[in-house]
Amino acid sequence: MHAWHRSTCILRILVGLAAIPAVFGAVDPTQLQQHLTSGVGILGNYTTEGRLTDWMAVLDDSEALQALNLPGTHDSAAWNPSGLTRTILQTQDKPIFDQLNAGIRFFDIRTGSNNGKLQLYHADFLLDATAQLEDVFWGFYHFLDDHPTETLVVSVKVDHGATDTTVQQALQALFTGTPASDYWITAATLGSLGEARGKAVLFRRFTFDGETALGLDMTQWKDNDADFAVPYTAEASASVEDLYQLDLGDASADTVVQTKLAAVQTHITNAAATANATQFFVTFASGGGQLNSLYVTPKILAAGSTSTNPTLATKGVNALTLPWLQQQPDGARLGVVLYDFYETPTDLVLATISNSKITPNAYVYITRYNCGC
Ligand SMILES: *[C@@H]1O[C@H](CO)[C@@H](O)[C@H](O)[C@H]1NC(C)=O
Ligand SMILES: *[C@@H]1O[C@H](CO)[C@@H](O)[C@H](O)[C@H]1NC(C)=O
Repeated sequence: MHAWHRSTCILRILVGLAAIPAVFGAVDPTQLQQHLTSGVGILGNYTTEGRLTDWMAVLDDSEALQALNLPGTHDSAAWNPSGLTRTILQTQDKPIFDQLNAGIRFFDIRTGSNNGKLQLYHADFLLDATAQLEDVFWGFYHFLDDHPTETLVVSVKVDHGATDTTVQQALQALFTGTPASDYWITAATLGSLGEARGKAVLFRRFTFDGETALGLDMTQWKDNDADFAVPYTAEASASVEDLYQLDLGDASADTVVQTKLAAVQTHITNAAATANATQFFVTFASGGGQLNSLYVTPKILAAGSTSTNPTLATKGVNALTLPWLQQQPDGARLGVVLYDFYETPTDLVLATISNSKITPNAYVYITRYNCGC
C-alpha cells in the first residue's frame, strides 16, 4: 500500500499536476441516483474504468481553453438508437460515461421538447424514451465530482421542435438552478483551464432571447460548410469546419471519404498554423453521404467498410486521420476535433490530445493519484 502511494506521489510530482481543490461540491446522492437511473439509456452505467479519465491533470492552469486539443463526439447521445433508422442515426458506439472515461471532453448534445420535457434527439428522432437532458447533465456533474481536474465543453442544440420562450426558459433553468450553477460556466467568452476545472462550459447553439449571457453564443452557425467563422462576442470568433452532408453525385464512397478528409486536414492545419492562441477552432471529422444515405452512412464515413459492406469505402476518415495526427508535432494546437465512432481505430483520442506528457500508461497511475499525499 505504502509503496503504491509513494510511486503515485512521485509520479504526481513528476508530471507537475495542477493543484486539486481541497473541498469539492458533490451532488445530492438521492437525486443523483434518480437521474442516473432515468438517464441510463444515454449515459450508460457509471464506471471509473478508462484510459484517459484524468488526462487534463497534466496541463497548466494558465492554458486558454482555445489553446487546448479537445477530443469530442459529434451527436454524442446517438449511440444506441433502435429500429429501422439505426443505420442512419447512429453516430457513436459507446454511452456518455464511456466517452468521458476515454478522454472525450467536448460533447454535442441535441435536445427538443417532448410533452413538456426536454429529451435527447438526433434530428427529429427521440433517442431514448425516458432519458431527459437534465439526466445527462447530472451525469456530467457526477463525473466532474470524481475528476476535478477535468473540464467539459458542452454544445447544446435544439434539434426537434420550436425554441420558443417556454423552451428557452426551461433550458436556462437547467444551467442556472441548483446544483447546475455550481457546475456550468455560462460566460459569453472562454477563460482559462484553471477557472474551468471541475466545470462544464456551455457552447450554445440554441436561440436565447434573455438579457443575460447564457454561454458562448454559437447561433451564427452556418449549415454544412467546410470553413466558417462564428462570432460569439464583438471581439471573439470561432473557426468551424462542419461539412457533414457530402453531395457528390455519383462519386464513390472512397471519394466521399477523401473529400471529407481534405476538409478536416485543411481546418486542423489552419488551427496548428494560427499563432493566435485565443482563436477557437472546431473541426467535425463526422458526416455522411448526401441525405446520410445508406451508401455512405456516418459509420461508413468514419469507420470505413465492414465485412457486410465490402464494396464500400475501404478506410474511413478516422483511420486516415490517425496517422496524419500522429505526424503532427508534439503539442501542436489542433483545437476541438469531433468524431463519430471515436474508438475506431483505437488511439484516435490520444493522438488528438497530441501531447507527449499524456500517455495511457501514465494514466494508469494518474487516475489513482488521489492518495492524500
Ligand atoms: C447497465 O447495467 C444493467 C445491469 O447490469 C444492464 O442490464 C444494462 O444493459 C446496462 N446498460 C448499459 C447501457 O450498459
Ligand atoms: C486573436 O484572436 C482573437 C479572437 O479571435 C482576437 O480578438 C484578437 O484580436 C486576435 N489577436 C491578434 C493579435 O490578432
